[in-house]
Amino acid sequence: APVKVTKICCIGAGYVGGPTCAVIALKCPHITVTIVDLNQARVDAWNSPDFALPIYEPGLEEVVRKARGRNLFFSTNVDKAIEEADLIFVSVNTPTKKSGVGAGFAADLNYVELATRRIATVATSSKIVVEKSTVPCRTAESMRTILEANSKPNCRFDILSNPEFLAEGTAISDLFSPDRVLIGSLQSQEGIDACESLKQVYSNWVPQERILTVGLWSSELSKLAANAMLAQRISSINALSAICEATGANIDEVSHAIGYDSRIGPKFLKASVGFGGSCFQKDILNLVYLSESLHLPEVAAYWRQVVEMNEYQKRRFSKRVVDTLFNTITGKRIAVLGFAFKADTGDTRESAAITLIKDFQSEKALVNVYDPQVSADQIWLDLQEASPLSSLENIQKQVHICGSALEACKNAEAVVIATEWKEFNNIDWEAVYAGMNKPAFVFDGRLLVDAEKLRKIGFTVTTIGRPS
Ligand code: NAD
Ligand code: UGA
Repeated sequence: APVKVTKICCIGAGYVGGPTCAVIALKCPHITVTIVDLNQARVDAWNSPDFALPIYEPGLEEVVRKARGRNLFFSTNVDKAIEEADLIFVSVNTPTKKSGVGAGFAADLNYVELATRRIATVATSSKIVVEKSTVPCRTAESMRTILEANSKPNCRFDILSNPEFLAEGTAISDLFSPDRVLIGSLQSQEGIDACESLKQVYSNWVPQERILTVGLWSSELSKLAANAMLAQRISSINALSAICEATGANIDEVSHAIGYDSRIGPKFLKASVGFGGSCFQKDILNLVYLSESLHLPEVAAYWRQVVEMNEYQKRRFSKRVVDTLFNTITGKRIAVLGFAFKADTGDTRESAAITLIKDFQSEKALVNVYDPQVSADQIWLDLQEASPLSSLENIQKQVHICGSALEACKNAEAVVIATEWKEFNNIDWEAVYAGMNKPAFVFDGRLLVDAEKLRKIGFTVTTIGRPS
């Protein structure tokens, strides 16, 4: 029979584990939720008395304020939380492997395996173990083998797959009213019971018809498939934006026109300087690797092209900046507005801004960066990682971090909008223009600003998906 869950442990207090389990705690006051992580600084931030949480997400602070200390706890005591829980989410990172077999494509499952082994070592009672991280198809099988090979007598482990579909910047509203919650289980009686136990947790706020239950492998593959299809839409619209720039068509009008077809739908058709974020590229490469391992090279090539188109879009944009600025940006100051991979997050993983700035650096430009949420430390870290051969000191000769958009644009030749922060729409563009060298250029990589309005002020405006 299904177990009534009263204690949940979540391993991994990151962008997914933190918000997801904080919302579970908020919506299920009868369940004690403990989120654990090995990273002491991260746990301290979750526990900080003034709620200086480790991630920026609209609405998150309010959730944590209501639940923390009531039935929501953050801790580095991983073993204790595992031991006490009846259901454990594994929500650790699964980055792309940097070396060894499958380097550059396959998911690094080391963190998932370490967490799984820890559960096997510590548990003295039966547990439902839920794979929350995004993993290659059939990872649950490996987890089960590890757990069963190391379990104590009378300890049963049931494995579920419950991938997360939240998007950063809207995580809390996505969690409050998800399009769907997906739970995969073995189709044995025990598997179906475990699935029912987790379903009861979500049923505290998610309508029954939105909780989908499927087989384990379908669940794992659906997560990779959803991200691949979403990223494919962006690469498709970005490919069309190149045609627009060459022909005089306007990508916004094209998106609008095709999005009206109810089979296509209007969402996720915004042309951009390229998608970023920790998952799209990683998950597609993972799918490419899976396809190749299954001897399906045509399938692998098909999905790989989505990532290649994204690289092309970023390169094409920085080349357009150089071309427009009379084929050289050496010694010229370029203001990059936005460093996060999208608005309403402080996350910079795989942000297009990093690639653009790196391109500008190699053209020997001077770069001023401003982002309302990303810390200076994070920007330096990302730029160093992008150029491992230059010292921080050398990078800082070319790049300056500024405290406001206006400051970043001062004495610049060009403004590049890399992230669609709303505030970039509301800056005093007259003042920006007055402070810039002339002719003053704006490159809108996000279809954000009103180009006509800026042209009236005197700017030369270049927009993605529109001819110059
Ligand atoms: P993250 O790096 O922000 O968080 C992972 C955390 O796990 C880190 O704080 C790390 O210290 C901790 N950790 C690693 N190994 C551990 C261990 N053995 N014991 C305890 N803690 C450990 O990653 P994230 O963005 O939260 O992503 C987690 C997973 O969710 C990934 O598989 C990702 O693909 C998937 N996902 C992410 C998003 C997103 O928007 N970021 C959305 C859906 C799914
Ligand atoms: C994405 C998915 O939307 C989530 O469903 C999924 O759970 C998550 O990945 C994950 O697995 O990590 P996220 O990366 O947080 O979420 O953000 P998105 O809103 O999907 O944006 C990704 C990138 O695409 C951003 O750089 C964004 O600016 C860009 N984008 C998005 C566009 O260029 N055009 C669009 O129309 C939409």
